[in-house]
Amino acid sequence: MNLSTGDLVTSERMDRESLCGKKPSCVVKVDLVLENPLELHRVSLHVQDVNDNSPKFKKHLIEMEIGESADKGYRFSIEEAHDADIGQNARSGTVVIHVTVLDANDNAPVFSHSVYKASVPENSPPDTLVINVSATDADKGVNGDVTYELGHLSDDDVNAFLLILNPEKSE
Ligand SMILES: *[C@@H]1O[C@H](CO)[C@@H](O)[C@H](O)[C@H]1NC(C)=O
Ligand SMILES: *[C@@H]1O[C@H](CO)[C@@H](O)[C@H](O)[C@H]1NC(C)=O
Repeated sequence: MNLSTGDLVTSERMDRESLCGKKPSCVVKVDLVLENPLELHRVSLHVQDVNDNSPKFKKHLIEMEIGESADKGYRFSIEEAHDADIGQNARSGTVVIHVTVLDANDNAPVFSHSVYKASVPENSPPDTLVINVSATDADKGVNGDVTYELGHLSDDDVNAFLLILNPEKSE
């Protein structure tokens, strides 16, 4: 307060956020005392918000995992940002989003040949190798594991052949 002119001046920077926080209206009450004769006046000062804060995310990095099978347009929610200013006073803020795309079991195993042809003499002893077959699966981890089995074998033939997993190839 300038005692000769009566001007009320700010003595330091006003900061609405530290004075009033999230309150939508910020009123600072000051008692004004006049002497001779003694009078008391209450002054209410409305501190107006200016757009001096940017929205901030709690974390600088948001990590999320999204399955590769997620459909187009699928929505993922992230933690919202907070801006200390009120109303329309919205600057912009940034956050880094680290997305790990998780494998889905969407690939079928594929054999190295579409048709394998082999012949074996009828007098072949047991444990004669007839053919090597190999299939690979583009998926990762257990989704990419390949197991083999013989199908479409008549009851007579079912004991004629045996599938053996080659440990070198399984790696
Ligand atoms: C009070 O106001 C007068 C007139 O504007 C000025 O000359 C003076 O410096 C002010 N006093 C203070 C303490 O600011
Ligand atoms: C099958 O693979 C084994 C080991 O890799 C090899 O010794 C053998 O010659 C192969 N046999 C045929 C029929 O391709």
